[in-house]
Amino acid sequence: MAFLLLTFLLCSSSLFLLFLLLLRNSRFRHRKLGLPPGNLGLPFIGETLQLISAYKTENPEPFIDARVTRFGNVFTTHVFGEPTVFSADSEVNRFILQNEGKLFESSYPSSISNLLGKHSLLLLKGSLHKRMHSLTMSFANLTIIKDDLFLDIDRLVRLNLDSWTGRVFLQDEAKKITFELTVKQLMSFDPGEWTESLRKEYLLLIDGFFALPFPFFFTTYGRAIKVILLLYYNNYYYYIMRLILILQARTKVAEALGLIVRERRKENGGKKKKDMLGALLMEGDGGFSDEEIVDFLVALLVAGYETTSTIMTLAVKFLSQSPLALALLKEEHEEIRAKKQDSKTLEWSDYKSMLFTQCVVNETLRVANIISGVFRRAMTDVNINGYRIPKGWKVFASFRAVHLDHDHYKEARSFNPWRWQKNSGGGAASPGNVFTPFGGGPRLCPGYELARVEISVFLHHLVTRLRFFGFPIQSWVPADEDKLVFFPTTRTLKRYPIDVQHRIRI
Ligand code: HEM
Repeated sequence: MAFLLLTFLLCSSSLFLLFLLLLRNSRFRHRKLGLPPGNLGLPFIGETLQLISAYKTENPEPFIDARVTRFGNVFTTHVFGEPTVFSADSEVNRFILQNEGKLFESSYPSSISNLLGKHSLLLLKGSLHKRMHSLTMSFANLTIIKDDLFLDIDRLVRLNLDSWTGRVFLQDEAKKITFELTVKQLMSFDPGEWTESLRKEYLLLIDGFFALPFPFFFTTYGRAIKVILLLYYNNYYYYIMRLILILQARTKVAEALGLIVRERRKENGGKKKKDMLGALLMEGDGGFSDEEIVDFLVALLVAGYETTSTIMTLAVKFLSQSPLALALLKEEHEEIRAKKQDSKTLEWSDYKSMLFTQCVVNETLRVANIISGVFRRAMTDVNINGYRIPKGWKVFASFRAVHLDHDHYKEARSFNPWRWQKNSGGGAASPGNVFTPFGGGPRLCPGYELARVEISVFLHHLVTRLRFFGFPIQSWVPADEDKLVFFPTTRTLKRYPIDVQHRIRI
């Protein structure tokens, strides 16, 4: 017995010493490399658990605030299996974004490539990325939205809202709307059986993005990350089963889209329809293979779906907490409606007159930070602010930290759409570097105009067609209190339930 006790004591103290040694070594190495100050946390898992637990609450700010106060706007941390330089500085973020492809490159884990496909725009690099990025930009530019996409956005949003009765979960309904809009814009399909069955498989695929630690599964950090997995999912077996389902769904989505691509190729080389698929099929310069087109479509479905629908939901949430902003928004849309008399359809000029709505959209993007920042990898040793980021290191340009910084925005952490009005003095006068919800540089979101239009049209019809059941028309109250969390993605925990009633019978 005494021998066993002695062995146990010896083993645990050796493990403890090894742990301390690893901790000391990593700190020593960190200083020697000339990195920004910071804390690499525990060996292997770093500060991942602190980050996850902060982002699973409604107020994740202390995670960044504490480190900025201690180390400054650029600091070193260790999250999701890798040491990372974290930037909460608008100028450094701009430098990182603008130097995409020169000093930094976008860095997504290999599992994302399994889900999106290796030809996805998010993963492409170099000249092919440039070509595909500008093709996507030209597909979603203002003229195309105005002339080709606007009518369908208006029609499909109305169609969805008119079908709502009683209790609806806003987060789910908004996702359905953005999915149907994207399928229509990409392939000219109206909502129906095919779209709905694709959506079901697609929902499973999207689930893959919630399986965040998956990327690190096969890396040297695998073991440590398994601990996180167990803590996060509680059940490792369940997690593996979920991954299998996700990969099967990816195959099914790719098969369904592949079939459409082949059929469209047969119809006169796909030239008949004026949509994104048509544009891809018409591309000269060797054209694109079916596999490339499918990956491209999957990426566009993923990129615009969760993002735009979450902003729709959160605009409603924030407005329901800000009665004055809601009243002004309603006034703006009632005025538009009054001018239209019997016409149900919105026109482009109506959209252009939604000035306060644009303030609401900007402020929702700023406060919600659905894309809290972007990961990049240093392609070479890079000197920033007197520090050195070694080649191969990860950097994280945090948009969230800048958007919620009191130095850039007055009372930065409260929802105040008026700050976006001209000459408001609300800190948003020179948005440039300090307002980057859509990123910047060569990877600037190609859907940034499209998303704005979709959210504005959605708000217009919500305000003018529906009321929240059981409450005066001027107030929006959810059917159940709901919490906003930021990990693994930004979302409301109960999918934002509301009870609705139609204002106008159609
Ligand atoms: C509120 C809605 C949206 C937000 C906040 C948003 C945000 C972003 C951000 C921050 C990036 C940059 C990622 C990076 O630099 O690594 C990005 C890229 C991208 N977004 Fe969006 N997005 C939105 C809607 C859309 C829509 C509607 C589309 C559909 C056209 C879209 C398509 C894309 C694509 C394809 C990329 C990859 C660009 C590239 O890597 O070159 N997004 N988005």
